[in-house]
Amino acid sequence: MAPRGSNAARRPPVAPAADIAPTGLAIGLSFSVPTALGAGALSLAAAGVENPRLDAEVLLSHALGLSRAQLLAATTRVLSPAETDQCGAMFARRARHEPVAYITGRREFMGLSFHVSPDVLIPRPETETLVEWLLETVSDRPSFSLLDLGVGSGAIALSVAARHPGARVTGVDLSPAAAAVARGNARDLGVSRRVRVLTGDLFAPVAGRRFDVVAANPPYVPRAEAATLPPDVRDYEPPVALYADDCSIDPAGRRPLGGAGSGLAITSRIIAGAPDHLLPGGSLFLETAENQAAAVAALGRAAGFTVAEVRADAAGVPRVVRCAGCYSPDGPGSGGSSPARLRPASPGATGAASASMSATAAGRRVENGV
Ligand SMILES: C[S@@+](CC[C@H](N)C(=O)[O-])C[C@H]1O[C@@H](n2cnc3c(N)ncnc32)[C@H](O)[C@@H]1O
Repeated sequence: MAPRGSNAARRPPVAPAADIAPTGLAIGLSFSVPTALGAGALSLAAAGVENPRLDAEVLLSHALGLSRAQLLAATTRVLSPAETDQCGAMFARRARHEPVAYITGRREFMGLSFHVSPDVLIPRPETETLVEWLLETVSDRPSFSLLDLGVGSGAIALSVAARHPGARVTGVDLSPAAAAVARGNARDLGVSRRVRVLTGDLFAPVAGRRFDVVAANPPYVPRAEAATLPPDVRDYEPPVALYADDCSIDPAGRRPLGGAGSGLAITSRIIAGAPDHLLPGGSLFLETAENQAAAVAALGRAAGFTVAEVRADAAGVPRVVRCAGCYSPDGPGSGGSSPARLRPASPGATGAASASMSATAAGRRVENGV
């Protein structure tokens, strides 16, 4: 074991090969920033991490409290032994494929910084497509209400609240731990006055209430596809946020119970429930897996939505479905007197609620014009 102490900071950034940890950084020794960066990137590359250099830069920047630009300019800065140990530990976690966002505890989304923990899905860039489309839709409204089902870190709900001062937002999550993260982020982002986060199953906590917009990035991975996910996702992100076949979770809020399915179990329940929770003229926005958008649009039409349009994400993948033109005048919260200006849910809605409908079967319904 290499010695610790203040003298170590003046040593050249070289360690005997035997002292080099698997992360490439020798415990207790000091390294220059470029040496630490190179060693970290090499160890991550050897572990099969996809962007080793970028991840090493982000981790080192975080550990040293520097921006990436400052890090790259800090060519003569020498890490203290304590900093070297800290960076080595971070590189070791990343080499085991733990996501960078869980190591640093932060992820940027829509230009905002969110706290993330292993209790929440790490916000993805493709979800920004949903948020941008939603914001376009309400841009001419001074105020509106939004229900975000499966709020997680609050990526959708809170960035809408931050970008639209008239947004009144309700987030719901089955996981109490995720709901707590969203509440913390609402406070950090200064929007908690206009945000409520509730715990429960989809629409249950908002029974009898209606919203101008309902949005969700629901879990949509079929459990049977778990083995195809990258280890960073499969081994670290909360199963309740990933898999749609099973929406029950254990009391700790992390472990799902259940079997296999299409990946549309939660999505189809949201589509079936939305007409009872939308105000007239309201919209439902749903993020989908890359091969599910047509099927989800078909489920929307089958539920009585007259509009079911798809938008691609920045990578050109059909990703978000907007459904509109369906309102259940007799649903909960209508008071029974709301005008039936829009077509109520059709008998097809029953089929839309079927958790067992496969993406392929739903796609066939599109071809048949249902
Ligand atoms: C894919 S994550 C989305 C998180 C966040 N909205 C985002 O876009 O980053 C899905 C979220 O839905 C929650 N969830 C899963 N099943 C649910 C259910 N039946 N009712 C409410 N929330 C649920 C999960 O706990 C998870 O936070």
